[in-house]
Amino acid sequence: MNYFDMAESYKIKVIENLKKTTLEYRKKAIEEAGYSLFGLKSEDVFIDLLTDSGTGSMSNNQWAAIMKGDESYAGASSFFELKNTINELLGLPYVIPTHQGRAAENVLFSALLKEGDIVPGNKHFDTTLAHIEFRHSKEASFLTDEAKDPESDYPFKGNVDLNKVESFFKTTSKDKIPLFILTITCNSSGGQPVSMENIINLRKLCDKYDIMLFFDAARFAENAYFIKTREKGYENKTIKEIVKQMFSYSDGCTMSSKKDGLVNIGGFIAVRDKNLYEKLQQFCILFEGFIMYGGMAGRDMAALAVGLNESTEFEYLNDRVSQVAYLHKKCKEYGIPLINPAGGHAVFVNASKMLPHIPHDQFPAQALGVELYIESGVRGVEIGTLLADRDPQTGKNRKPDFELLRLAIPRRVYTNRHMDVVAASLNELLKRKDKIRGMKLVYEPKLLRHFTAKLDWI
Ligand code: F0G
Repeated sequence: MNYFDMAESYKIKVIENLKKTTLEYRKKAIEEAGYSLFGLKSEDVFIDLLTDSGTGSMSNNQWAAIMKGDESYAGASSFFELKNTINELLGLPYVIPTHQGRAAENVLFSALLKEGDIVPGNKHFDTTLAHIEFRHSKEASFLTDEAKDPESDYPFKGNVDLNKVESFFKTTSKDKIPLFILTITCNSSGGQPVSMENIINLRKLCDKYDIMLFFDAARFAENAYFIKTREKGYENKTIKEIVKQMFSYSDGCTMSSKKDGLVNIGGFIAVRDKNLYEKLQQFCILFEGFIMYGGMAGRDMAALAVGLNESTEFEYLNDRVSQVAYLHKKCKEYGIPLINPAGGHAVFVNASKMLPHIPHDQFPAQALGVELYIESGVRGVEIGTLLADRDPQTGKNRKPDFELLRLAIPRRVYTNRHMDVVAASLNELLKRKDKIRGMKLVYEPKLLRHFTAKLDWI
């Protein structure tokens, strides 16, 4: 028996109590929140799967690093610890800290994007897309067709369709394409990975057409885990070796450290080119702070340096990704329609398949999310028509490929018994699915509406 694969490779030193509420209490709480999952008070949530962003538990070594944080404005030792760690892990020489991932996007795009540009990618995350559209540029998505079939178990549903990328490069003027952004893993396609082979071939295309290749690296370590466990030829490599190889094909990255950095706040940009680095410095100082802290406290940079090393250890990743797979398997056993295979950070419930009687513009995934909260106090998040915003040109609701309820699992926070609660309560919803109604918007901001919109039942 391999006893060491049967349980987590850590033990718990500090706990936080969870509040168990009544059905009546939760009905009132969500009504008062305007049926917005973001509007709930976290103390009213039993199991919080809203996001895996900034919600992880830090290790004793990270907390020790916090105490040693250097809060100097310039030249802080914590900055150099972070920079050296990134240089070592990713092989990218120039590092700019930012306060989170979207801030990294803001700084990078301020230097690179102009009106009328097109930014290709596998599929951009919503803050990335919003930063592109805010600058009157457009996205172009080249996610592989395999990702469009929710049932398919294709192992690399974050891959790009290289033929389509090549014809795009061929037919579009090079000065309209400031960079290609590859999101690893691809959050918008279900936390699905990109294979090393796909990265290598994309790099070749970018070289041929002289286009910069950047990674949105929020979940780069989970991507490396999937390469190790799913792609031939990588099974005997360490995660750190795979990470180094992945980034050797990139010109740089933006990072939300709140995911695979294992910290509660932070981000960074890392680049290979000195001239670009010098351009980015100005925007960092303008928006974030001096180039040696960029919106982060010294202690947070110190904890991030430790977190990046921990998240690129196989033991940690194996615990992490196996827990996501555990919830996926449990839900599947109940017959809940899901995106296959399990992603790296979340389980995605296919709400349009579960609630086919609710049309997309009545927000089926939001209705499912609200009902799940009412049922058991579990909070997920809608990834569907609400998140997709309106088309800035036509003003109409965009129709996304899927209506999903995402159950994102925080790192090192919950046990598999919590996962059992989530699966069992979804099963209760499955039993009464025909009675679940659609929803309508009662308040809606112009940009990134899903964070603050208010809804009601139809
Ligand atoms: N890129 C990806 C792939 C992300 O998933 C996120 C955030 C960001 C960029 C932006 O980073 O939040 O630090 O500004 N994703 C969170 C989520 C919010 O819940 O998936 P940020």
